[in-house]
Amino acid sequence: MFKDKKVVFSGVQPSGVLTLGNYLGAIKNFAAFSDEYKCYYCVVDEHAITVRQNPAELRRRTYETLALYIACGLDPEKNTLFVQSHVSAHAELGWILDCYTMFGELSRMTQFKDKSQKNADNINAGLFTYPALMAADILLYQTELVPVGVDQKQHLELARNVAERFNSVYSDTFVVPEPYIPTETAKIMSLAEPSKKMSKSDENENAVIRILDPRDVIIKKFKRAVTDSGCEVRRAEGKEGISNLMSIYSAFTGKSDDEITSEFDGRGYGDFKLAVGEVCADALAPVQAEFARLTSDKAYLESIMAHGAEDAARSAARTMSKVRRKIGFIEPKRV
Ligand code: TRP
Repeated sequence: MFKDKKVVFSGVQPSGVLTLGNYLGAIKNFAAFSDEYKCYYCVVDEHAITVRQNPAELRRRTYETLALYIACGLDPEKNTLFVQSHVSAHAELGWILDCYTMFGELSRMTQFKDKSQKNADNINAGLFTYPALMAADILLYQTELVPVGVDQKQHLELARNVAERFNSVYSDTFVVPEPYIPTETAKIMSLAEPSKKMSKSDENENAVIRILDPRDVIIKKFKRAVTDSGCEVRRAEGKEGISNLMSIYSAFTGKSDDEITSEFDGRGYGDFKLAVGEVCADALAPVQAEFARLTSDKAYLESIMAHGAEDAARSAARTMSKVRRKIGFIEPKRV
């Protein structure tokens, strides 16, 4: 059915609540992909255990991450939504690709260096080979396009290298994927330090709007957003804070910079910040309501996961069989 459609794959870890930057810059726009592409969105629980997880929390977050994707507009009828550990081919191809990924390559990964510094008591082999598993996620589905944040660019580059290496050893097996890095994400900046990107893992909660923040929290955070000492709502150098708020306001209202400037002419920053907070809270309210509805219906989420995994496993099996044949494994026969 989807034979001729090109493939989009992305993975999201079941950790940390997604931010306004993730929403405006990425997820909100992912829904449009499904017209043109066969889309897989995977909750990568196997990646998550490279750092120690509390089992009950991991399970809860896995449901929640799936629910959030659906609440943000990814229709399970049009996208394949699934959990990584439900499709055993990920771990299987992950191992195989470990054998085509170089120690030196993995040693250069900045995320490994960061995470091993932060988890000095648990620098496990999985943390090190994480990018090979990520390559497996992507290559299993013959993916053309991988929407990711800029921080994943190096891992994507590695996946491309592994695919090319495998293809050149054995002849064409994998599609070599391209990253798709939404430029809008980069544009949503921290509310506390508007020269920095808004980051899911920022320690200062006031810097980040989370998709699930309640209305009063959203409004309070915008009120506290760092701005310059002027009073004109206008995009300009030295006005990074106001410029960022204008981007957010514009993303929700569709208004241009000039329209925003004249709307708030003579009204000052306080009014503007409140207006940004209100449009943001208004826009996120239906997402939050849908999230609440979905997370209270585990049976529904489980049926989405089950269908997603079945669909994903079917196309993963095709790649696995090709890979086995090329490597020299015996294709297992049913008894
Ligand atoms: N490493 C990604 C992150 O931390 C998550 C991820 C795992 C991923 N597998 C993937 C992203 C495959 C894109 C494609 O954000």
